[in-house]
Amino acid sequence: MIGARRVLEIGTLGGYSTSWLALGVGESGKVITCEFEPLHARVARGNLERARLGDRVEIKLGASQATLDSLITKRTEAFDLIFIDADKRNNVIYLQRALELSHPGTVLVSDNVVRGGAILDDSGQLGSQEADV
Ligand SMILES: C[S@@+](CC[C@H](N)C(=O)[O-])C[C@H]1O[C@@H](n2cnc3c(N)ncnc32)[C@H](O)[C@@H]1O
Repeated sequence: MIGARRVLEIGTLGGYSTSWLALGVGESGKVITCEFEPLHARVARGNLERARLGDRVEIKLGASQATLDSLITKRTEAFDLIFIDADKRNNVIYLQRALELSHPGTVLVSDNVVRGGAILDDSGQLGSQEADV
């Protein structure tokens, strides 16, 4: 889409989407991915190493909000693409932080805007299928 070379991912799990992002940035690119659960981060690290993509991925362990605040404080170079896919309740916070870590033209992708056949609206109400997620 834009030839992204620097990617930020919020929500790693087993590193599946991370692997695709890492393939997309190429050998000289970089993916920073945020994960709260140590087990998930370990599984993701193993999967990335097996896929020979480990050298271009940095897993930041901890709560994403703190990680993003730290990246902002350190004036980290802006990202070309930011993928938001962690705890949905904090999506607004992640979007605000993502804007601070962007440059004009950065692509922001958020999962899930659409769920259970409904499109997220500004009422702030979660669909019934989402209530306990
Ligand atoms: C939907 S999964 C990510 C899936 C992954 N992006 C993919 O498509 O393969 C969400 C992940 O976010 C992590 N997570 C939840 N809350 C978090 C938080 N506050 N900070 C960082 N990671 C969090 C969960 O542990 C889980 O691994």
